[in-house]
Amino acid sequence: MRKDEMGQEKNVGILGLGKYLPEKVLTNADLEKMVDTSDEWITTRTGVKERRIAAKGEAASDMAVKAAKSALNNAGLKAEDIDLVIVATITPDMFFPSTACQVQYKLGVDNIPAFDISVACSGYIYGLTIADQFIKTGMYRRALIIATEKLSAITDWEDRSTCVLFGDGAGAAVLGVVEEGGILGAHLGADGSKGDLLQLPAGGSRLPASRKTVEDRLHTIKMEGNVLFKHAVKIMAEAALAVTEPLGLKGDDIDIIIPHQANIRILYALAKRMGVDPEKKVYLNIKKYGNMSAASSAVALTEAVEEGRIKKGDTILMDAFGGGLTWGALVIKW
Ligand code: ACO
Repeated sequence: MRKDEMGQEKNVGILGLGKYLPEKVLTNADLEKMVDTSDEWITTRTGVKERRIAAKGEAASDMAVKAAKSALNNAGLKAEDIDLVIVATITPDMFFPSTACQVQYKLGVDNIPAFDISVACSGYIYGLTIADQFIKTGMYRRALIIATEKLSAITDWEDRSTCVLFGDGAGAAVLGVVEEGGILGAHLGADGSKGDLLQLPAGGSRLPASRKTVEDRLHTIKMEGNVLFKHAVKIMAEAALAVTEPLGLKGDDIDIIIPHQANIRILYALAKRMGVDPEKKVYLNIKKYGNMSAASSAVALTEAVEEGRIKKGDTILMDAFGGGLTWGALVIKW
């Protein structure tokens, strides 16, 4: 931990949280009319009952700005008080300019740095960790970290193995110096050798968009779900240990786990490995929103605070896993 000009150690923590969920709800009953699936299969295999779908023309930056304004409001701050914007997304408005630049512009703040990170579901934890470093070194005072995803735009609505899983939404945090507590530790990781398990194959420099890529449906998410499932349980458990062990924390010391919400069965398996009761210690909102990639853990943290599940002094473990592969875990003292 770096010391400030007065020789004091700097604690970096969350000053405010926000979220935005589009109004439109797509239920399992709606999906039953679109593909060969059932509410029973989706509920038992994934835990999802419904998900939100962004409006036509509503892009990742539009959702991000709404979540960001809510986080700023909850922090009692104005956009001018921020000096760094990080957006985590795999569904940017476009390749470039970055979604973060769009957000910076729409928030009306000039000249502050803004950039996107592409880390799939681990994006919020990567973003918080990056911002933590900038604030600890004293380079910036306050950062806005926004996770925003419009997965409906890259979902193959004819593929029942993926279209039932995802949803749209955004979550945001304002990070800055706090008097006590804050981010105690972080662990980030990646394994590019398994990138083909979850990808959007076309539209980039490898396979530029063409009539054929569209015909072959290569502009939508391709996922080997059951292989990923096993990696997710193992890697999330290892990431949790990698961040908690150096801090001397055991399962009992964690008051609540805020995980990425990909599948309820992954989260129950994670709780079992951590030796904690999933009903009491794992925050779950997958039922309402499905998997929103980076936005999942951002919205989950925001809602856990809104619902009073997190109180001052609590030790929070955030844990995420996603395409890349990537993963990240973070401990925050509230
Ligand atoms: N409705 C009915 N049946 C279905 C559906 C559906 N929506 N989808 C698949 N099935 C069928 C399959 O066709 C298969 O049938 P078969 O046995 O006749 O071949 C059967 O159900 C089992 O399919 P699996 O893919 O083995 O099902 P599984 O139990 O693994 O569940 C799921 C699939 C939900 C995708 C799960 O594997 C999972 O959650 N994986 C992890 C996903 C993940 O963590 N991704 C990373 C984060 S996401 C990100 O980074 C954006």
